Amino acid sequence: MCGIVGYIGYREAYPILIKGLKRLEYRGYDSAGIMLYCGDDLAVTKTKGKVSDLEQKSHALAKSKAKIGIGHTRWATHGVPNDVNSHPHVSNSGKIALIHNGIIENYDSIKRELTKRGYVFHSDTDTEVLVNLIEDVKIKENVKLGKAVQIALQKVIGAYAIAVFDLDKPNELVVAKLGSPLAIGIGEDEFFIASDATPFIEFTNNALYLEDGEMAIVRLGREVRVRKIQDDVHVHNPEIQELELNLEQIEKGGYEHFMLKEIFEQPNAVRDTLRGRLQAEQGVVKMSSIDDYLEKFVRADRILIIACGTSWHAGLVAEYLFEDLARIPVEVEYASEFRYRNPVITSRDVVIAISQSGETADTLAAIKLAKERGAFVYGVCNVVGSSIARETHTGAYTHAGPEIGVASTKAFTTQLTVLSLIAAKMARAIGTISQSEFIAFLSALDQVPSKIETVLKTEESIKKIAEVYKDATNFLYLGRGYNFPVALEGALKLKEISYIHAEGYPAAEMKHGPIALIDEHMPVVVIAPKRGHYEKIVSNVQEIKARKGKIIAIVSKGDTDIANLADHVVEIPDIHEALTPMVTTVPLQILSYYIAVMRGCNVDQPRNLAKSVTVE
Ligand code: G6P
Repeated sequence: MCGIVGYIGYREAYPILIKGLKRLEYRGYDSAGIMLYCGDDLAVTKTKGKVSDLEQKSHALAKSKAKIGIGHTRWATHGVPNDVNSHPHVSNSGKIALIHNGIIENYDSIKRELTKRGYVFHSDTDTEVLVNLIEDVKIKENVKLGKAVQIALQKVIGAYAIAVFDLDKPNELVVAKLGSPLAIGIGEDEFFIASDATPFIEFTNNALYLEDGEMAIVRLGREVRVRKIQDDVHVHNPEIQELELNLEQIEKGGYEHFMLKEIFEQPNAVRDTLRGRLQAEQGVVKMSSIDDYLEKFVRADRILIIACGTSWHAGLVAEYLFEDLARIPVEVEYASEFRYRNPVITSRDVVIAISQSGETADTLAAIKLAKERGAFVYGVCNVVGSSIARETHTGAYTHAGPEIGVASTKAFTTQLTVLSLIAAKMARAIGTISQSEFIAFLSALDQVPSKIETVLKTEESIKKIAEVYKDATNFLYLGRGYNFPVALEGALKLKEISYIHAEGYPAAEMKHGPIALIDEHMPVVVIAPKRGHYEKIVSNVQEIKARKGKIIAIVSKGDTDIANLADHVVEIPDIHEALTPMVTTVPLQILSYYIAVMRGCNVDQPRNLAKSVTVE
């Protein structure tokens, strides 16, 4: 993982790099570093910790008027987070500096080879090996930086997005990409390099996204030149995209944390997902990616959903949706398992890959495997132009806007929005639901944003519940049917940001194990809206009560049965059963948020995690 940033132009580089790194911290934040080109020399400052620690440590650099530099925020893979292992890494001669997002898998054999040739390594990283390999090639082959990077990368196995600076070529940066994202922002007489467009959006809307296996020389005073790493072919007229992202979207907008902002953005995020796609009253769902391939969906033998983390939970909800509405068999797989277990895939399978970032390495690899085996692959992504969006045959964006908080919130509800549209459209095309059922479902979907707004008004009462349970050491989350995946998602949110152990379970399965954990110290969150298996879950609640568990129940407005048994109740408005997860998940997000805040945890940047997992 990690975030990379670079600048070359006429402005002072330091503030651009620091601000850019802060925006990229969702990609990793265990250490950070910066290199500036100051006349004849490279000035490098690196530190364990966050970008704010780097700022504290780099007062000298802050005064620099340097116009060229690179920066990095790290999520450790090779070597613990410490100052030495932080990037940029500098070659033995002190001339070449490099930042890297990814993993060089054969770094050990290259390191041994270089050590024999006299190279000395100070860190435990694969990146330091790469920068010295580039230097070695440059000297041995007597070539310039661009060529040296190309030859070195031809020897490398792994994944990377890199930016390289060489004192011998101080008016250029060389960048390359394989498996990790890399965007080049193109301004007037200036260029930006970054893992995504957020570091440069206030300077330029023009971005060039490198494809896998491409590299570019970014030199002042001329156009960016892109070429293939393996065969030296130049890429003519690489596509420059005009971005729609704006600055306001990536700032906190008065909220204390991005996570809270993103929770509260959900009504509008869902509206944005539906915009232009849904005409509920007319019974119309317009999605060109489905219309163009409707035959594939209608004739599919089964749907296979691949994803990781919260996106996988959205996939589980979709399993209920597709089977329930469209009567088509669905399997939901962890991408990391799918890619390594020799799965049976046929050309009549529709594979749906779900990913907020569009960069998750396991999901990307699973997509490639499914494609190789002849499946049609549809992507549901949030980040426009991301690797997964490009790798899939077609797909739909969720249009949730940038999600910065590491714990995913609005990505989940907007993924469910897209998946609901697809399931309904498919069900109607196959004929498993009538036109009136279709219209009823679409009208309910249209009302989801206002229902979420109603739930958001319960914030204060959820905050009080958080106060009571903030010191708990365990939590159990129970749900049935459509709300079983919500139980898993609720537990994941709590684990991620508050570090409290939590488990999600199908409520009836509780009897087969977790019930043994229940005593007066165990908070149990029960997701029990009226629609669905309500009577069954009332019995489950009684079982918890009989064992003195503390019950926090998410119930439909006006509920009395469960409300009479529960210690705390959060009411949600009534909604079509298949859409309840989009509403019931919201109080669980708020609960985990406040518990984490009260425990003093870093909500937006929980320990050990990163938003975009670009390593397997
Ligand atoms: C990481 C994030 C999760 C996310 C998962 C999948 O683990 O911390 O919030 O759900 O990756 O990410 P994706 O971008 O593929 O949805």
